[in-house]
Amino acid sequence: MKRYGRITGWGKSVPQRILTNHDLEQMVDTTDEWIVTRTGIRERRIAGAGETTSSMAVESCRQAMERAGVGPEEIDLIIVATSSPDYFCPPVSSMVEDQLGTIKAGAFTLVAGCTGFVYALVTASQFIETGLYDKVLVVGVEKLSPAVDWTDRNTCVLFGDGGAAVLMEASDQPTGLLSCELGSNGRDWDALIAPGYGTAKPFSEEVLRNRDHFLRMDGRRVFKFATRKMTDSVINVVQASGLSWDDIDLVIPHQANARIIELAVRRLGIEEDKVMVNVDRYGNTSAASIPLALCDALEQGRLQSGSHVVLVGFGAGLTWAAAVLHWQPERGIEGPILVENWPLLSNLFQPVTRVRNAVWSTQVNARARLQDLAMAAMTPINQWQRRTRDQ
Ligand code: UT7
Repeated sequence: MKRYGRITGWGKSVPQRILTNHDLEQMVDTTDEWIVTRTGIRERRIAGAGETTSSMAVESCRQAMERAGVGPEEIDLIIVATSSPDYFCPPVSSMVEDQLGTIKAGAFTLVAGCTGFVYALVTASQFIETGLYDKVLVVGVEKLSPAVDWTDRNTCVLFGDGGAAVLMEASDQPTGLLSCELGSNGRDWDALIAPGYGTAKPFSEEVLRNRDHFLRMDGRRVFKFATRKMTDSVINVVQASGLSWDDIDLVIPHQANARIIELAVRRLGIEEDKVMVNVDRYGNTSAASIPLALCDALEQGRLQSGSHVVLVGFGAGLTWAAAVLHWQPERGIEGPILVENWPLLSNLFQPVTRVRNAVWSTQVNARARLQDLAMAAMTPINQWQRRTRDQ
């Protein structure tokens, strides 16, 4: 019998301390107005003493297990997606496993920048579909604040700390992951980098002097990549899922910048109420951003049993990842039956869906080309305006 990965529990953990844009105005040469208009961010959470990557992961997992009514002794595997573990060695996933008190769980840490959670979710689904495991915890968590240069206005206004987790369990009813796309464009590996954080440039006085242990980003390069990849990968996964765009109830994008999300929304021609945005409250929490947004969407009642949701992320690597999920957390409840289970209906409807998706994809590409042209024309004008204003 075919097995599916059903998400049955979820939970989140964010630090107590809130750092607002007005606080940042006191720290670097920036303004609330600049941050809000360029990024949509109003505040972010910053971890205090005792709030670590592992502690946020553990709290999120506990909530997810409690919601699902599953004890730690039943967990088979824990996957922690993060770029900011407590230590380089040991893997933070083992610290999480220890603190949760699991008995038989394997655990590993997955590093794929801001796309880590979607990579981890897809990986968990494979373990379940193959029959190897029944219950897998998937965590996206970051404590980025120690890796942020709080004197660099280009980056320090963007990032925040937090974590969230889901529990995926084996099910024989069709649900969970319907399609996915995992991508990497390693040519742009240096677009978002902490040069002195690893073994290529081990920690030294020089690293400290050059502030190479902090995150650096070529924001415009990442911005361009993100807008293109978000639209392309959403189209690809919706098409691969066999659903039409109208079947999608919610899109949960990586929360890096509200402008990136707005551009993608316009390109895709999506209604705004089909898109989850909470970047204003947490900033960019990297691997935690999509599961945090998922938890907030659930708190706001924006996902019902039977909903179809698209997750889409992009980030360091540069990487991207997208997935279509059928959302049905209750065990043993028959949801709307997917077309794939009815070969006759499937054969009738699939050509219609394919044509509708092809029309949609052509429209999105045309809009994207027009927007790229408009942006290319506006860039020199904006630069000229800024130069004359500064003189
Ligand atoms: O999750 C990982 C993925 N990361 C991302 O998705 C980030 C993608 N990139 C972005 O979100 C945007 O590129 C940023 C928000 C980082 C920057 O926005 P932008 O519109 O691309 O600004 P810019 O880098 O072109 O900078 C415009 C101006 C510059 O001044 P000059 O050179 O024109 O005089 C910057 O120095 O804005 C200046 N600036 C600031 N001004 C006030 C940069 N940061 C700030 C700041 N406050 N915090």
